[in-house]
Amino acid sequence: MNEIDYRKYFEILQDAAKLINSSFSLNVALESIMEAVTKSMNSEAASLLMLNQRTKNLYFKAVTGNVADDLRNITVKLGEGIAGWVAQERKSLIVSNTNEDPRHKKDIDNSTGFQSRSIIASPIEYQGEVLGTLEVLNPLDKEHYDENDLVLLEALSSQVAIALRYCDSYFKLNQENTSLKQVIDLEHKMIGQSKEVNDIFELIRKIAPFDVTVLVTGESGTGKELVARAIHDNSPRKSKPFVAINCTALPENLIESELFGHERGAFTGAVSVRKGKFETAFGGTLFLDEIGDMGFSVQAKILRVLETGVYERVGGDQQLKANVRIVAATNKNLQELVAEGKFREDLFYRLNEIHIELPALKLRKSDIPLLINHFINLFSNSFNKKVTGVSQEVLDVFMSYDWPGNIRELKNVIKAAVVLADTKTLTLSDLPEGIKNTTIKRFPMTTEMGSLDELEKQYILRVLRENNWKKNASAKILNISRPTLDSKIKLYGITIEK
Ligand SMILES: Nc1ncnc2c1ncn2[C@@H]1O[C@H](COP(=O)(O)OP(=O)(O)OP(=O)(O)O)[C@@H](O)[C@H]1O
Ligand SMILES: [Mg+2]
Repeated sequence: MNEIDYRKYFEILQDAAKLINSSFSLNVALESIMEAVTKSMNSEAASLLMLNQRTKNLYFKAVTGNVADDLRNITVKLGEGIAGWVAQERKSLIVSNTNEDPRHKKDIDNSTGFQSRSIIASPIEYQGEVLGTLEVLNPLDKEHYDENDLVLLEALSSQVAIALRYCDSYFKLNQENTSLKQVIDLEHKMIGQSKEVNDIFELIRKIAPFDVTVLVTGESGTGKELVARAIHDNSPRKSKPFVAINCTALPENLIESELFGHERGAFTGAVSVRKGKFETAFGGTLFLDEIGDMGFSVQAKILRVLETGVYERVGGDQQLKANVRIVAATNKNLQELVAEGKFREDLFYRLNEIHIELPALKLRKSDIPLLINHFINLFSNSFNKKVTGVSQEVLDVFMSYDWPGNIRELKNVIKAAVVLADTKTLTLSDLPEGIKNTTIKRFPMTTEMGSLDELEKQYILRVLRENNWKKNASAKILNISRPTLDSKIKLYGITIEK
């Protein structure tokens, strides 16, 4: 056996750790690691098989080589074939010649046309639990694998175990966004898991039940309307109408009749009585969108309704009772408009009982992978396309671009790309010029990756931070018990930053 080139091994391991830590999606991380494993072991193909704990079947989670696509629908029973044997016995294995090993199952080779010659495989274990098998096939520069290869493969498989255990629970929870809904018990259609978004969910949960007026601000496309709907959907008014009016879209004289309705003959063209938005929203929520564009005289009328709870239809004198909760939104700075004399100060304070400020997407980029996933699924389904993800380059570009149009822009870019895509993975060529030429900013590593312990510490820190230092929620996401988390916090000397 040759001397192990430790330097080379260490570099390969470090690269794998970096890939895991710098990737924003588990699938992207695993695909990149498998590419790196195949290349570093100078082999024809490699597979990562994951064990489904319920069915006890192994399935191909990430694969390289020219029959990769054919393997994705195949499952292997625990104990069956080389991969199944390795996962069941929890032992690594070198098969020098597949023809001579009775454990080798020929069906997969027969169905894909791939000829396995020599295989090396190692179980992926985390804290005593088998997660799957890592296997590499057909060395390109020699007859069969040797003990040196096994040392490297086992080390790589413990890196993969960490990626699977931490990222998988982390990303799975985030993608479905269910855990979060349970934790804060909130109905909403907003995707996000960053601290900024969590704080907003928490605020909505607190204020939704009470009839306070809410002012939602934020750049265009940040989700102001979704927030308004979430407030309504989580309030006692949820079974009554949510009615929106866009104050920019209509000239001042029409806005008045839109809001309050008009009597027959109130003005030329008013041929019949018409209900206004205050009336149709009775019992529910009235969403005054783009409130910063509302003219001065309508502002005064709105203020009056808010103060007195009554109003009249245009051209009428019968007082009608207003029973609405008001949520207003604007992408303008209302305080500046007040200072310029364009917005009534008294109305501003009346609307601003609670203020929700939505962050620009560039300030919460950690949500981008989740949003990408969400929009790809959405448009793949609605356009009946088979797009499942984005390439690493597209992810890098999306993470580097500043998104002046925020989530709306991201949504529209993905929509167009899904329509244009000829492949399952969106590539740079599917993106518009202005975005695809974005200079990639490399994301800083949280630390110089030295050891597996360091990597574990960094993951724990990241999950704690993302979860606002809530230990129970973090332990759940990390899939470890609360006492285990406490002992790791102590072991790694992690100090709570709150
Ligand atoms: N957190 C989110 N998760 C999923 N989709 C989102 C999210 N935020 C916004 N969107 C989507 O992005 C688009 C823009 O959102 P919305 O209309 O609420 O933004 P806005 O702040 O009201 O923008 P504008 O100021 O231009 O009116 C919508 O299609 C919305 O569904
Ligand atoms: Mg809007």
